[in-house]
Amino acid sequence: MTRRIIPVTDVRSLPPEPGQAAGTVRAPSGAVFDALARPLRDLRISVTDRCNFRCVYCMPRAVFDKDYPFLPHAALLSLEEIERLARLFVAHGVTKIRLTGGEPLLRKNIEFLIERLAALRTPEGQALDITLTTNGSLLARKARALRDAGLTRVTVSLDALDDALFRRMNDADFAVADVLDGIAAAHAVGLAPIKVNMVVKRGTNDGEIVPLARHFRGTGVTLRFIEYMDVGTSNGWNMAEVLPSAEVVARLAEHWPLVPLEPHNAAETAQRWGYADGAGEIGAISSVTRAFCGDCTRARLSTEGKLYLCLFASVGYDLRALLRNGATDTAISGAIAQVWEGRADRYSQLRGSAQAPGSAEERRIEMSYIGG
Ligand code: GTP
Ligand code: 5AD
Ligand code: SF4
Ligand code: SF4
Repeated sequence: MTRRIIPVTDVRSLPPEPGQAAGTVRAPSGAVFDALARPLRDLRISVTDRCNFRCVYCMPRAVFDKDYPFLPHAALLSLEEIERLARLFVAHGVTKIRLTGGEPLLRKNIEFLIERLAALRTPEGQALDITLTTNGSLLARKARALRDAGLTRVTVSLDALDDALFRRMNDADFAVADVLDGIAAAHAVGLAPIKVNMVVKRGTNDGEIVPLARHFRGTGVTLRFIEYMDVGTSNGWNMAEVLPSAEVVARLAEHWPLVPLEPHNAAETAQRWGYADGAGEIGAISSVTRAFCGDCTRARLSTEGKLYLCLFASVGYDLRALLRNGATDTAISGAIAQVWEGRADRYSQLRGSAQAPGSAEERRIEMSYIGG
């Protein structure tokens, strides 16, 4: 029998500090730092929990079937509500916004949201880096409109170049050619730098590492290899299917000598490697074998307006309730600061240790719900 996985719905109310009356505000805006001194810099916003793919490692069809309780429309934050929250996050130091899903291009009028986000400015007057992670299936159609709306760049997921294998992995019969067309369209309209994310599952698609690298070498596209992670509880993750990034890099180096590159910034998820012959770079995202929690500056806003402090969290803070109960900007801003200041999450660092959070009863959020 299939075990039904329901997105976390238990809501922790936003607690006042000891000695602080509920509703009063400590840090209405300005930079905020968490309990481990990490600033808030990136906001990842999930705009839909739905997807037209059923990737085996993310939305296995046996769980995400026609009876799966996706969120009803009224539960979703409206585009205006998202913009309002984004503006308050920006006042607290966010400089990069990533739209995710599910598949974000399934959200109606996403271009309108992008336009509104592109108009936001940091306290220093800078425009934001606004990007999006997509499976690429609708990108050929939408690339120009997304660019015109103000999107800076895109990241496209692609797990295989072999069409039959790709169809098996997305389990929805999408062809590799659809995604490659999307990448080409993004390139043509200048949504650069384009990154391509490949989730590597040992024994499933590790034979595609070299073909994908060969395909994107010299094109200006940065291919990044992601270690298969234990996100959520529905993908049947086990360590035997994780191919450590060190092995990925070693396999590539047998074909093309690689040189390590400096990170762009401390919070970067990927370790960068350059092809010694100048044909571009690749990235390795090693959440399992080389955790990067120490510099994690990412907050995640779910489709229904809950704020999560970690990809592996079980509990979200209900910002939608504040929005819909008439809270002022100052009150919401103070709540965001208070939540961030209490953050001590570092799941990947603790994975497998006795201190690792998450018991069997505490269901971690699903990747399709929070968007990676
Ligand atoms: P760039 O700004 O382009 O470097 O993007 P990014 O790497 O922050 O975002 P992207 O969505 O491309 O991330 C790639 C993948 O890395 C995600 O799909 C996740 O699988 C993983 N990832 C991103 N952020 C985190 C994180 O905070 N923790 C963990 N464990 N994995 C993450
Ligand atoms: N492990 C690693 N990456 C994952 N993604 C989805 N599920 C997993 C997982 N279990 C990736 C997708 C996409 C992004 C949203 O997250 O391939 O690039
Ligand atoms: Fe959809 Fe992305 Fe999950 Fe695949 S990994 S099912 S494309 S949300
Ligand atoms: Fe950040 Fe949590 Fe990922 Fe660590 S596991 S990098 S704290 S999101």
